[in-house]
Amino acid sequence: MQKKSPVILDLKFDREQVSAALKGAFAGREVIDLALPAHRSRDLSGIDYAVVWRPSADLFTRASNLKVVFSGGAGVDHVMTLPGLPDVPVVRFVDPTLTNRMSEWIVMQCLLHLRQFKAYEAQNRKRFWHELAQPEAAEVTVGIMGMGVLGQDAARKLKIMGFDVIGWSRRKKEIEGIETFDTAGLDAFLARTDILVGLLPLTAETRGLFNAALFARLRRRGALGGPVFVNAGRGGSQVEADVLAALDRGVLAGASLDVFETEPLPLQSPLWTHEKIFVTPHAAAASDVGALFAHVERQMARVEAGQPLEHVVDRAAGY
Ligand SMILES: NC(=O)c1ccc[n+]([C@@H]2O[C@H](COP(=O)([O-])OP(=O)(O)OC[C@H]3O[C@@H](n4cnc5c(N)ncnc54)[C@H](OP(=O)(O)O)[C@@H]3O)[C@@H](O)[C@H]2O)c1
Repeated sequence: MQKKSPVILDLKFDREQVSAALKGAFAGREVIDLALPAHRSRDLSGIDYAVVWRPSADLFTRASNLKVVFSGGAGVDHVMTLPGLPDVPVVRFVDPTLTNRMSEWIVMQCLLHLRQFKAYEAQNRKRFWHELAQPEAAEVTVGIMGMGVLGQDAARKLKIMGFDVIGWSRRKKEIEGIETFDTAGLDAFLARTDILVGLLPLTAETRGLFNAALFARLRRRGALGGPVFVNAGRGGSQVEADVLAALDRGVLAGASLDVFETEPLPLQSPLWTHEKIFVTPHAAAASDVGALFAHVERQMARVEAGQPLEHVVDRAAGY
């Protein structure tokens, strides 16, 4: 039997999680873990596979014979812009563990805004007992920008919670019970949207998309008293100065941000303490490292059995 190619790991992940996940992973295959000092100077030529998350700038020069690059996350912007990325398939991480986590976060944020959590917290600080008028989920339209793996799952789960859900993506989707729009339908989509959910990849087309001009096109007289912006795609798609200005001028009524233009979010950022913003530290849907390694093993087995890879990035589209 032909010897299996080693696999390179260049993952800027929590070390304990990687070490724990490596126990029992990649049986019969050498693992070159570049986080380990003993492996750092290893000759990487002639190796077929690399699993990467924010890889070192020289990885692709050193690993000059890669056949597949596996992204450690669903997003690939951390690798697509790297100089020297070889012209080989780049595979995204797609797994129920990640999809479910993201949907939990999206549903939670929509419910926090629907159920006026910030207003109740402010009342609680004053020990002020007062019930606010409460709209129903069905009165609120959640518009999801990015109807891929994550957007579609979140849409279905929001629907179960009773929200009216609509979706927007490059190519129009057919999803039962959910009205969908393509890029040409952006105006109509925004005019219907009370809670705007960003689940877009970061590409040249989506950079800076969530800006003042776009916020101004959202529905103004919805049940929440103003539109809300929720982003768990990538921070590069949002203009944070515009988010702040829109909140302060009442163009937006609230926001939930998991991703930021600069991460970690700088200490001096006003987003941290803004009374209308929920902030989480790019934690909406972390990759489960064990599930990531199992996915990589499945894909390598497919390559070695002559089957096509799954979840391959469209290099021209950038995601
Ligand atoms: N915060 C976190 O913890 C976290 C975790 C995981 C992922 N993410 C982010 O979530 C993103 C989405 O993940 P996914 O697995 O759902 O990706 P996906 O399956 O590739 O879906 C991407 C969606 O965005 C749409 N899209 C891309 N560019 C567009 C454009 N220019 N105009 C309109 N629509 C566009 C795509 O349209 P088509 O359907 O027409 O292709 C697709 O519906 C990732 O790229 C990553 O950045 C964040």
